[in-house]
Amino acid sequence: MKVLSVVGARPQFVKLAPIDAAFRAAGIEHVIVHTGQHYDPMLSDVFFRDLGISEPDVHLGVGSGSHGVQTGAMLAAMDGVLTEQRPDWVLVYGDTNSTLAGALAAVKLHVPSAHLEAGLRSFNRAMPEEINRVLTDHAADLLLAPTDVAAGHLATEGLAERTVVVGDVMTDVLAQVRDAVAALPSPVMRELSLPEGGYSLATIHRAENTDDADRLRSVLASLARVDHPVVLLAHPRLVAKCAEHGIDLDAVSTAPGSHLLVHPPLAYPDLIASALHARGVVTDSGGLQKEAFLLRVPCTTVRPQTEWVETVELGWNVLVEPGPALVAAASRPRPAEPDPAVASPYGDGHAAARVVAELRARIGTVRF
Ligand code: UD1
Repeated sequence: MKVLSVVGARPQFVKLAPIDAAFRAAGIEHVIVHTGQHYDPMLSDVFFRDLGISEPDVHLGVGSGSHGVQTGAMLAAMDGVLTEQRPDWVLVYGDTNSTLAGALAAVKLHVPSAHLEAGLRSFNRAMPEEINRVLTDHAADLLLAPTDVAAGHLATEGLAERTVVVGDVMTDVLAQVRDAVAALPSPVMRELSLPEGGYSLATIHRAENTDDADRLRSVLASLARVDHPVVLLAHPRLVAKCAEHGIDLDAVSTAPGSHLLVHPPLAYPDLIASALHARGVVTDSGGLQKEAFLLRVPCTTVRPQTEWVETVELGWNVLVEPGPALVAAASRPRPAEPDPAVASPYGDGHAAARVVAELRARIGTVRF
């Protein structure tokens, strides 16, 4: 069996890691196509290195651009790759522009495709990721859902027959990395002289929080007002948007009384180590909400909805608007441990092995 993975953005490299390892263990031919959506070494190369992922076989080098320009360039480039490679499956991951381009290219060329992390919904059609995941689910032939809730959404949309729940592959990789870094000190604690459990870790990069200058100012002002140090890992999009809106991140951080500390993005093991020793996480990232839950670190999500509803239902995540609600939520006490019967909605850490089994079992079954 030959599987071609299409990846391009940071969270996709994390999901690719356990899949690539499982494919190698199973002797599956794996072609990795990197679209080039993320190109900064800290958003791309370090993930391949630290997580032991095979080097990409094909690099499309698409880079940044508006949605149409970026997605269109990937789509145009994928035609030649798929015609040459003719894999048994194209595997796409998550909800970025690279995901949609990979799925659309495959279905148009009648190459069977599978969507990993299928069925997540925010029901917010203003989010580019929501459009990407809905369209990808409807284009793909096999929908690999991480949770029962995700499978339920797919059933509601008439896609139950193509759906299988495999668990969450980010749980696979997190479990391994957590065990490897558990005994090590947190890199941000060391670098910024912060006490164990005495800081929060923050990431803000979504279009909904960064594209509007007033909203971004309000998010940053709220982070600065939290009653303990907040280490903001500045994604390139955040840095670019601050520059565009005339916001001086350093000035926010050095203002009198500010608790904001700005830090470059971290490599994955350093991120997990830094989250593990934090008292809380403040984020608009999907992956980090779930990682915080799995590490049992309280999470404050700066969004009106989340796709990872289990984290909220089990009491470890709260959704807030910037302002007093954010400030208060970031200092709330730890919730109680969830009931063991419902404490593991994201699977047992063996999702990648199930993906291998499902792709193998269904090879040659897709008809166009
Ligand atoms: C993308 C995904 C988002 C995901 C995020 C993870 C889409 C629509 N969005 O958002 O779902 O949560 O990745 O990080 O696919 N930039 C750099 N260097 C890079 C990449 C980007 O400087 O290596 C800057 C550029 O100014 C670029 C901006 O970040 O225009 C946005 O990049 P883009 O890939 O369009 O979206 P992300 O915000 O990274």
